[in-house]
Amino acid sequence: MNALSATNRNFQRAARILGLDSKLERSLLIPFREIKVECTIPKDDGSLMSFMGFRIHHNNARGPMKGGIRYHPEVEPDEVNALAQLMTWKTAVANIPYGGSKGGIGCNPRDLSISELERLTRVFTQKIHDFIGVHSDVLAPDMGTNSQTMAWILDEYSKFHGYSPAVVTGKPIGLGGSLGREGATGLGVVFATEALFAEYGKSIADHTFVIQGFGNVGTWAAKSIFERRGKVIAASDISGAIKNPNGIDIPTLLKHMDNNGTLKGFTGGDAMDPNELLVHECDVLIPSALGGVLNKENAADVKAKFIIEAANHPIDPDADDILSKKGVIILPDIYANSGGVTVSYFEWVQNIQGFMWDEEKVNHELKKYITSAFKDIKKMCKTHNCDLRMGAFTLGLNRVAQATVLRGWEA
Ligand SMILES: NC(=O)c1ccc[n+]([C@@H]2O[C@H](COP(=O)([O-])OP(=O)(O)OC[C@H]3O[C@@H](n4cnc5c(N)ncnc54)[C@H](O)[C@@H]3O)[C@@H](O)[C@H]2O)c1
Repeated sequence: MNALSATNRNFQRAARILGLDSKLERSLLIPFREIKVECTIPKDDGSLMSFMGFRIHHNNARGPMKGGIRYHPEVEPDEVNALAQLMTWKTAVANIPYGGSKGGIGCNPRDLSISELERLTRVFTQKIHDFIGVHSDVLAPDMGTNSQTMAWILDEYSKFHGYSPAVVTGKPIGLGGSLGREGATGLGVVFATEALFAEYGKSIADHTFVIQGFGNVGTWAAKSIFERRGKVIAASDISGAIKNPNGIDIPTLLKHMDNNGTLKGFTGGDAMDPNELLVHECDVLIPSALGGVLNKENAADVKAKFIIEAANHPIDPDADDILSKKGVIILPDIYANSGGVTVSYFEWVQNIQGFMWDEEKVNHELKKYITSAFKDIKKMCKTHNCDLRMGAFTLGLNRVAQATVLRGWEA
């Protein structure tokens, strides 16, 4: 099942639980606007090359649309569509005043030089600048893009509309980026886990953790878990997996990764089969790499009691059913990894205020948003007698539906 069908399925389940009017349901599902542009650029050798770019505007009932932009060879409209829709529900669950969007360019950024990437980003921005903006659609980095990409978009967009740092988030700090943005998703994952454990009178220190994916999200989550005396007993990245039943020394592993790029060759643990990692004995599994890693092939063997979905769509719907029957508690992606978009919102607020917050304030506000969203999700779970995924989906959907009805949608 692809990302779009999985998202639609969760949406439809939530709409049924809420008893949503069928016309409203349809209107909430269909994207507001789909933009497709062809971007032709001169390559460094003088030849021309064309790439297809997309921007999907899913919904703006609660505020400007917000979503990342990815550069990847497999960018295709269906997946971008699903991710745009997820952003609508995610921003609503986080209760930040945004809608949802997503975009991308079908290219392999590793095959392009820095100057080709800059030209491509500028041409893409020229083609979509009338459809994005501080109060209409705010972009952010995603797979294959980074703070430099945001700086180019800011610059190109500002040529048409005047200096507009708030049109993108995830910018370099020197151009108005927010302190705390880099670690926000990983730290948000840990705040969300703390909110969940509080229900059981437990803390991070009482648990063992396994983390799949040791990039931005995985490393920041591991660092925060270690600081709270939780034990990360296994971790993996694209190069392989390691385990240490006594707990991996995370600061030493991070130093190793700074020097070597990957966790391969780390001597503070034993190498293990990366496939075994997902079904390794532990309290908490945090998939922080790819979508669909838990599926009907391996879900029955999962031993974790809790799964925190740091990645988007790490559990496919078949696995979701199997894991729920086993009694595994799943903190869903639209809530668990919302720390990034929440601090992106803080960045936008700071740019509009023209005032920079210190990191302590950013993290304090992030914790407040994450903790409060968990309470709101639990209320929906109680009202509708549903699990946390449906609690989050019904919360997001209900907020967007209410805003749509208040604004008047039938005229
Ligand atoms: N960065 C954010 O702010 C953010 C926000 C929300 C959601 N997410 C989601 O979190 C996930 C991770 O994002 P990121 O920003 O950390 O990406 P990243 O590129 O920094 O890191 C990805 C990590 O996954 C590892 N990886 C790739 N394939 C793997 C495999 N087969 N097995 C094990 N590890 C593998 C890579 O080696 C790398 O360590 C993605 O699903 C992303 O969509 C990220």
